[in-house]
Amino acid sequence: MSIERPRRLRATPALRRLVAQTRLDAADLVLPVFVRDGISEPHPISSMPGVVQHTMDSLVRAAREAVDLGVGGIMVFGVPREEDKDATGSVGLRPDGILNAALTRLRDELGDETVLMSDLCLDEFTDHGHCGVLGQDASGRSVVDNDATLEVYAQMALAQARAGAHVVGPSGMMDGQVRVIREALDGEGFTDIAVLAYTAKYASAAYGPFREAVGSSLQGDRRTYQQDPANRTESLRELRLDLAEGADLVMVKPALPYLDVLADVAAAVDVPVAAYQVSGEYAMIEAAAAQGWLDRDRMVLETLTSIRRAGAQIVLTYYAAHAARLLGGAP
Ligand code: PBG
Repeated sequence: MSIERPRRLRATPALRRLVAQTRLDAADLVLPVFVRDGISEPHPISSMPGVVQHTMDSLVRAAREAVDLGVGGIMVFGVPREEDKDATGSVGLRPDGILNAALTRLRDELGDETVLMSDLCLDEFTDHGHCGVLGQDASGRSVVDNDATLEVYAQMALAQARAGAHVVGPSGMMDGQVRVIREALDGEGFTDIAVLAYTAKYASAAYGPFREAVGSSLQGDRRTYQQDPANRTESLRELRLDLAEGADLVMVKPALPYLDVLADVAAAVDVPVAAYQVSGEYAMIEAAAAQGWLDRDRMVLETLTSIRRAGAQIVLTYYAAHAARLLGGAP
């Protein structure tokens, strides 16, 4: 028997707590929320039990509750009326569009008490469901037009900044998106609005429930702009570009199946790194827990710990308020 006995440090809860290298704190968690236009009651999302599409009022209550529990930030997604969707996602630019109206309301209610983040993407607002506007390539095929999309993103960034977002989160994976957003914001004096870049965003089946959550109109897939799950160093390339373009925070998404990528990114940067435990990751835990196949709360804390251990300082998770409660936050 070797003289080294690692079990010594596992003997009591107090010892384990003392030597724990990763701690969870509600302040590191961000709660993604959905607000839907034209509903008078919160609407359940069947593939995400416990998560709802909010009305404006229930959104404010949920955000207030999360803030009181010590959650670090709120990421807002807007779900417009079907009839307001169009080819360019114009309702995403309107100050009275659901997302911008919700940001305005939340900033009025919460001020600087929390970090208000907005999803900066077109997929919720376009009638074709793509993250950008469509165009034609030189041979006449329909494609997502990268550079035409950038112009819309720049306008959207300004609309969200005017509405009260502290941080904008471009999630569309268009090349050059961080640069145009940074330039647009700075050009209008919004130099303090930060950009949380969805730096390494993979084309994942784990976004399935989210498509229900936002009533997505997408036919087809996003493989021409989101990354191929087979690739690893491509994320470092995306990272290099986002940092050069002025990203303040960088994100890896999904989280659990991409902890290797997360560790690579975390090792390479000096800006805060976030990871997004996405809708499908949530749904998997919920489905298994509902069957009695695993212990939900332990699984929640274990997955969040793993994501932090791999290098994420900040974790976006639909469990943010729940985890804060488990961690012993106030009410
Ligand atoms: C795009 C966006 C998506 C998610 C966050 N931002 C959907 C997509 O890329 O298809 C997914 C988040 C989740 O699955 O929880 N606006």
